Amino acid sequence: TAGLATKRIGSSILCLKETDSTNSVAFKMAEEGAPEGTVVIADTQSAGKGRLGRVWLSPPGVNLYCSVVLRPAIAPVAACQLTFLSVVAVARAVERCTRLKPQIKWPNDILINGKKVAGLLNEMNAETEKVNFVVLGIGVNLNLRMSTLSQGLLRHPATSLLEEGGEEVDRIRFTRVLLEELDQLYGDFLVEGDGPVRAEWLARSAIKGRSVKVSQQNREFRGVVQGVDSFGALLVLLSDGTLETVLSGDVALL
Ligand code: BTN
Repeated sequence: TAGLATKRIGSSILCLKETDSTNSVAFKMAEEGAPEGTVVIADTQSAGKGRLGRVWLSPPGVNLYCSVVLRPAIAPVAACQLTFLSVVAVARAVERCTRLKPQIKWPNDILINGKKVAGLLNEMNAETEKVNFVVLGIGVNLNLRMSTLSQGLLRHPATSLLEEGGEEVDRIRFTRVLLEELDQLYGDFLVEGDGPVRAEWLARSAIKGRSVKVSQQNREFRGVVQGVDSFGALLVLLSDGTLETVLSGDVALL
């Protein structure tokens, strides 16, 4: 942690060789009072958690698995705004550490050349009126050789920075850059709210103005993306002129 140029994030950093899930560890620590900025990093996870109850493959030695405890004084409905922070922080870190151009796919995937390279999972502990804490979970495929995985394990086309860029990424440097970008974005968020980070999210996402297919549990529809609201919902204009506010589901570019 020497020389980490951050104000809040990384106030204490726990590095584990192996754990079930860094999100679970960070969540437990936060319940026991761990301060804002606590970071949990693991070399490998035996039960890495993905969105929608899926598993996040977490082989040792190659990737980044980390979780950050935040305690913002915001209402639970606003907590989804924090997703913008981690998405934009990962995108900036990828740009600073490689020559690659990351794309953002709503709600929280980061793609390179159309393939998923990182995933984010936020978990929250809140009362009706206020957030007690949020755990930002960040997984980035850095130096994973995709040929070492059986593709059947993956739901979507996936990749790593090494596969796309052809160069090893220094794991420590990437982690440091990511935490510094996150710290910067979180500091700005506390002062200015979600406006600036949401604007950067939208500018980076390849989705505005694009035709998409939205698949939800019992519904599927097509439309054109207009933007994203301050709750992180995707605004999709249907051909009959109605504007749908999409809070969950899978979105595919057409
Ligand atoms: C997804 O795209 O489905 C989200 C994946 C989130 C994975 C990260 S890895 C670090 C943290 N700990 C977990 O158990 N999950 C998140």
